[in-house]
Amino acid sequence: MNISLNLNGTATDWEVAPGQTLLQALRASGAFSVKLGCETGDCGSCTVLLDGQPVNSCVVPAARVNGSRVTTLEGLLGDDLMIRLQTELVEQGAVQCGYCIPGMLISLYALLKQGPPIDEETIRHALTGNLCRCTGYVKPVEAARAVAAVLEETS
Ligand code: FES
Ligand code: FES
Repeated sequence: MNISLNLNGTATDWEVAPGQTLLQALRASGAFSVKLGCETGDCGSCTVLLDGQPVNSCVVPAARVNGSRVTTLEGLLGDDLMIRLQTELVEQGAVQCGYCIPGMLISLYALLKQGPPIDEETIRHALTGNLCRCTGYVKPVEAARAVAAVLEETS
């Protein structure tokens, strides 16, 4: 089946096979920030934005994104908010093995994009679908809080 989508701001056509997931199609397209973890929608390492909303791409059929806008971390690398978030995660020491980080960045980006006020509880809630075996979440949450505080100051 041939589908058309907007992938990271570019009109894209994919030939997708029956049963192919969005995760598989994205990695086949070179979007290697999208990580394969559980493949059951539980770990969040495959999180991408589908029409602006975070989804677990491992449980989304590729055929379903026909006509949609799909954004991966590759499509946000020049975005000011994403750069601020990445910088803060690194500066706070929130990146350890790094496997969960692309998915975590997408979830936090989607939240922060909504604008202030964003409190710690909201940040923790936004990360409930992103499993991290390394950090205990304290530092990622602190990083997101720091970005949220800047957004509040400048809004
Ligand atoms: S690989 Fe998609 S949620 Fe785990
Ligand atoms: S930094 Fe290792 S799983 Fe999150």
